[in-house]
Amino acid sequence: VTRTPLMAGNWKMNFDHLQSIAFVQKLAWTLKDGKHDFGAVEVAVFPPFTDLRSVQTLVDADKLKIAYGGQDLSPHESGAYTGDISGRFLSALGCRYVLVGHSERRTLHGETDEICRDKVAAAARSGLVPVLCVGETSEDLEAHGAAAVPVSQLRAALEGNDAVTELVIAYEPVWAIGSGEAATPEQAQTVCRALRETLAELRGDDMAGDTRLLYGGSVKASNVVGFMREPDIDGALIGGASLKIDEFSAIVRYRQ
Ligand code: G3H
Repeated sequence: VTRTPLMAGNWKMNFDHLQSIAFVQKLAWTLKDGKHDFGAVEVAVFPPFTDLRSVQTLVDADKLKIAYGGQDLSPHESGAYTGDISGRFLSALGCRYVLVGHSERRTLHGETDEICRDKVAAAARSGLVPVLCVGETSEDLEAHGAAAVPVSQLRAALEGNDAVTELVIAYEPVWAIGSGEAATPEQAQTVCRALRETLAELRGDDMAGDTRLLYGGSVKASNVVGFMREPDIDGALIGGASLKIDEFSAIVRYRQ
């Protein structure tokens, strides 16, 4: 199986407009200088919606191989949904990916499994690759172990979504997000294995073998290699460390 590793930076609600532009430009220079092989490790950033247009302009102008995506999307195509962003708008801006069901959306915006399922469907309809985020809270971990909640979130997101043939799954234990306390590579591998087995059960071995599973939660340059050694971890979803050029570019170049 050859799954191209994906290093994805989720900027959340950080950076102002000029910082976003400067970051993408610096990232491109740093990776070009370091002769980064974009075919060997894919790089993606998730800026705020308001910066996507500028990121697109930069990427197009310099023919950068940096992919980008939105941090969320509406489950609807269009209509009276003030403030929401349609997947169509994102694909029109050249987005390849969109995050779905990040724990901050689930917690702060009440996004249920059903909403996440509709968003996964909406992403696919718009030609975007959903990056479905799943993960357990520390209470879930204590009550049910690590894998139960992420696996049930994956099942729920795919239910009735047979048209979705390509997705990325990000396993992000909620207790590890922004806490500085990452899961161990072994813990993350155990859950990613369970997710891949679930995918195989639901969609067959081919799709399970092709789908990239990312680990997220306090990933840094100093711990990324441990995760990447695990057979079922194909990349990382990075929050805090994706805001620092040295950290993020070192994560992308984790093999060097
Ligand atoms: O989407 C990214 C995650 O929430 C991880 O954030 O790297 O700051 O822990 P973090």
